Amino acid sequence: MSKYIIRGGTPVAGDIRIKGAKNSVLTLLAACILTDGKVTLHDCPHISDVNTMLAILERLGCRTSRTGDDVTVDSAGISGDKIPGGLASELRSSIFLLGSLLSRLKKAKVAYPGGCEIGLRPIDIHLAGLRELGVRIVEKHGYIDCDSTRAHSADIMLDLPSVGATENLVMTCVFLKGVSVIRNCAKEPEIVDLQNFLNAMGAKVSGAGTGIITIEGVEKLHGVEYTPIPDRIVAGTWLIGAAICGGELTLSNVNPEHLSSLIAKLPKSTCKITCARDKINIICNGRCESIPKVETTYYPGFPTDLQTQILTLQTVSDGTSVVVENIFETRFKTVPELLKMGADVTVNGRTAVVRGVRSLNGARVSATDLRGGASLVLAGMCAQGETVIDNIYHIDRGYEDLTSVLSSIGVNIKRI
Ligand code: EPZ
Repeated sequence: MSKYIIRGGTPVAGDIRIKGAKNSVLTLLAACILTDGKVTLHDCPHISDVNTMLAILERLGCRTSRTGDDVTVDSAGISGDKIPGGLASELRSSIFLLGSLLSRLKKAKVAYPGGCEIGLRPIDIHLAGLRELGVRIVEKHGYIDCDSTRAHSADIMLDLPSVGATENLVMTCVFLKGVSVIRNCAKEPEIVDLQNFLNAMGAKVSGAGTGIITIEGVEKLHGVEYTPIPDRIVAGTWLIGAAICGGELTLSNVNPEHLSSLIAKLPKSTCKITCARDKINIICNGRCESIPKVETTYYPGFPTDLQTQILTLQTVSDGTSVVVENIFETRFKTVPELLKMGADVTVNGRTAVVRGVRSLNGARVSATDLRGGASLVLAGMCAQGETVIDNIYHIDRGYEDLTSVLSSIGVNIKRI
């Protein structure tokens, strides 16, 4: 099994160009099924979640190809409507295929997406919304069998602003006659990206980014070329990396607005951040003061996907910090690994109390999930001595070519 070996203690220096957002690309790949025309997505990151989604599309009878950062999907020959269990459990986003398969083929059979290291990941809000749209659903033997031949437009209220449920339901509504409304929906930038993508294909979706999305049914969607938004979580991970190690970093191909909650939280006394239209420059000198409290919440609040990264920064900041994880039940799985490196963190339910130490010590640690793994890389970058990180397949799901990206900004990292 591959591992990362990192020798910490060097300030960062250099530039990183951010690629397309994993959590947008995966949804847009699912949305490709909505047209029998050809779709090309530019700036797609080379990460395993994208490869898994492409494999699922191929299993459904679509033809996919990749040239550099361009991914092309041709779903003219789509034949299957069943997402195989093995692949579905590998990828949470396979559930997004439910909506696009129902719209295109009027039926779908998806394996129950497995929970994962960060929580149960229920899909009750997805299913409740589909039922409101008149989709017939039978759940048995770990599969969800859906039929949308009698589906109709509706006015839906979500119990929680779930990102996946919002995306799934929007895709289910694109061809439903009349006007559908989804209330209390997620406002993440990836939802706005999906709206822009669908409208570029001829859909009539409006309101994304607000709490109410309206979809007017159309007959058909046509193929398109599209560039997804940059990955705000990858960008945020590296901003926090600069704060942890000190030094100067310039991120290009970013949307600073998507990171406003993180930028507001990074200590101004040691982190000087300058934003331009699609660039962020950060200069960090000295040990950060602890951030008294970070609470994850729905966009535009502080994102759960940056929680472990900001917690890792707190482990070496000056003072005590309280980190509250309000979105997922068990997103503190990386704390035991940080304790091995000398961190001082006490977890009680959804709250972690972090007492900053002068520095972490390199150790042998294991990634337990995608963002937790990325956080161990950040810890290794600032720790004294050598850190070895196992199970780095978790990190490969969402971070492209980590070794060359981080080596280019002065990090002593090897993959063996
Ligand atoms: C998306 O997951 C992202 N994944 C996650 O990123 C991200 O953490 C999450 O949104 C929140 O921003 C992708 O886009 C592929 P949710 P999703 O439905 O859609 C509860 C990463 O690291 N809920 O918004 O699965 C759920 O348990 C990943 O890139 C229900 O109760 O998240 C959670 O507490 C991790 N019932 C909350 O809502 C449902 O039917 C938010 O989940 C659905 C969700």
